[in-house]
Amino acid sequence: MIFTVAIDGPAAAGKGTISRAVAAQFGFAHLDTGLLYRAVGIKGGDPVQAARSLCDADLARGDLRTLGAGQAASVVAALPDVRAALTDFQRQFARRTGGAVLDGRDIGTVICPEAEMKIFVTASAEIRAHRRWLELGGDAAPQSIADVLAQVVERDARDTNRADAPLRPAAGALMLDTSDMDIDTAVDRATAAVMAQMRQKL
Ligand code: DC
Repeated sequence: MIFTVAIDGPAAAGKGTISRAVAAQFGFAHLDTGLLYRAVGIKGGDPVQAARSLCDADLARGDLRTLGAGQAASVVAALPDVRAALTDFQRQFARRTGGAVLDGRDIGTVICPEAEMKIFVTASAEIRAHRRWLELGGDAAPQSIADVLAQVVERDARDTNRADAPLRPAAGALMLDTSDMDIDTAVDRATAAVMAQMRQKL
């Protein structure tokens, strides 16, 4: 059985949690494609070479989820040769037998436009920044909430305005705005939508 769930959206909208929950619910494999760009961003040296030679050890680094790695990822992700070097791996993952969930920015638009289910998860920049700040420790976080918001807005702008594979909803994507939704509700909506689509397509 081949069934791809493409989940796209800006940083801290809830994509990761939703993707993991959908994958667990249906027994699908999950790929957080942001980790590929993060690993390239922090590897140093020529980013195109880094993308072409990416290995398991690069993807196992403990510092992949820092704000700095996110910013570095967003910068190298604007380079077409970096994106091209990572495309085949993502496409093969998407069409593996047994079902796959991929989350990122361009899964439904570029990596797998034929995905059986596409979801675009979003939320206001303020709410996403607040969530990220809480994840970083809230009052104990090294950054103020204003700094986190500034970085979220900067990253959104770079991801949305780049020429190659900009962040935007794919045609036919289910729009899920999680601004006023708790994460359990968002997961329930996504899971129900995937279930309905599986009934129709399989
Ligand atoms: O989802 P994330 O925050 O881990 O992504 C980090 C950066 O990587 C994001 O700002 C843009 C880039 N990215 C991308 O361009 N395409 C993807 N499919 C995933 C991430």
